[in-house]
Amino acid sequence: MLGQMRLAIIGQGYVGLAITESALLAGHHVTGIDKSPSVVSGLRSGKSHIKGISHSVIAKSINSGDFEVSDSYAQASDADVVVIAIPTPLDNTGSPDLSLLVSAAKSLGEVLKTPKLIINESTSYPGTLREVIKPLVDEGSSQNHLYAISPERVDPGNRSYGVKNTPRIVGGLTDQARDAAVALYKSFCDEVIPVSSAEVAEAAKLFENTFRFINIGLVNEFAEIMSAMGIPADEVFEAAGSKPYGFMPFHPNVGIGGHCIPVDPIYLQERAKEFGLTSKYIALSQEINHRMPKYVTQRLIDEYGDIKGKKVLVVGVSYKADISDTRESPAEPFIENLKTQGAVVLWHDPLVSSWRGESCSPVSEDYDLAVVLVAHSNLSMNGWRGGPIFTTNFNQKYPDWKPLISIEHKKK
Ligand SMILES: NC(=O)c1ccc[n+]([C@@H]2O[C@H](COP(=O)([O-])OP(=O)(O)OC[C@H]3O[C@@H](n4cnc5c(N)ncnc54)[C@H](O)[C@@H]3O)[C@@H](O)[C@H]2O)c1
Repeated sequence: MLGQMRLAIIGQGYVGLAITESALLAGHHVTGIDKSPSVVSGLRSGKSHIKGISHSVIAKSINSGDFEVSDSYAQASDADVVVIAIPTPLDNTGSPDLSLLVSAAKSLGEVLKTPKLIINESTSYPGTLREVIKPLVDEGSSQNHLYAISPERVDPGNRSYGVKNTPRIVGGLTDQARDAAVALYKSFCDEVIPVSSAEVAEAAKLFENTFRFINIGLVNEFAEIMSAMGIPADEVFEAAGSKPYGFMPFHPNVGIGGHCIPVDPIYLQERAKEFGLTSKYIALSQEINHRMPKYVTQRLIDEYGDIKGKKVLVVGVSYKADISDTRESPAEPFIENLKTQGAVVLWHDPLVSSWRGESCSPVSEDYDLAVVLVAHSNLSMNGWRGGPIFTTNFNQKYPDWKPLISIEHKKK
């Protein structure tokens, strides 16, 4: 059994705080390092800012001293293990942006003066640990650190699978590094799967999310075709889903969002270009997924009529049900499309109080219509006194909401 380890976890967001919680529950000491003052002060006061991560574990561990939080990388210097869990977004040209990872690696290099096990959990293209992180850390600290990668698979809002029961892939730049990381993860994960290299682990993560990205593109396109043929797509998907093998359900919607699914395939695509290759599947799925907000806007106009001057409430602006994360949310281009058509648009989301500098609007004002993009479990339309409620969801919360994607509009 692995004894208590001292972990420094860089980045205390969705991924970093989930690992923090699991490590604390396994009896390790954690120093959370985050550059956001509000994240640091919130955690220090014992409060979790991530839905699904309990206040009680955080508060208890802060009080006992097992969990410390800082904005200073210097606090990582006495850790046994450093885990990196910071954002790897796209830049404003749509290309991978490793600047935060680069800055974290440089900062670590400046403070790590004794050998550590350094594990990257941030998602990036194969080669990132070997070619980007290691040289930057080593340049500053010139120590014999062990480098491993364990791409995080957390699915925020998923009540069935969490850090403990989701199998974890681990690769290393050396066998020693991989085995040390495997031992750590075995202290709080049920199943740990060592792989032969860091690049295998990095590529496996990108393949998982590219698989999802492409299949969502496929169902989005298929739903458009079914709609034009006058065949209800939801019934088709349900019928196809009765096959007990060789089929996995995906659902169309107004687009694709979040920090992972729309982003990770682009990391793979850009890396492939360096090898003279390009993925046609990724390019095509991106095109289809990106046109969905426009398609749904047109479907709304087909069903409702002209929306010029109409007061529209868009409901559910996070990128999926039961989480408050609005990163890359397709609600944004959808709202822009509605505005381009002359609609006056407000939004409501029971999990999001402010977004894009605007506050959440109540459902009880006078609206002409509503479009429900994401139906959170706690969503209530009580007090609605406007016109029709449309939805892009397949699993409709209320039968009187009018579907916009699965619809036999050719028959009308
Ligand atoms: N959110 C998910 O569902 C999910 C799932 C699997 C993998 N990932 C990957 O995990 C990584 C982290 O994503 P996340 O969702 O946890 O991000 P996040 O935005 O929720 O959290 C990142 C945290 O890092 C902090 N931070 C940013 N730059 C920093 C720096 N230089 N030094 C210290 N702290 C810094 C931010 O203040 C923030 O609190 C990304 O690579 C992402 O692709 C995310």
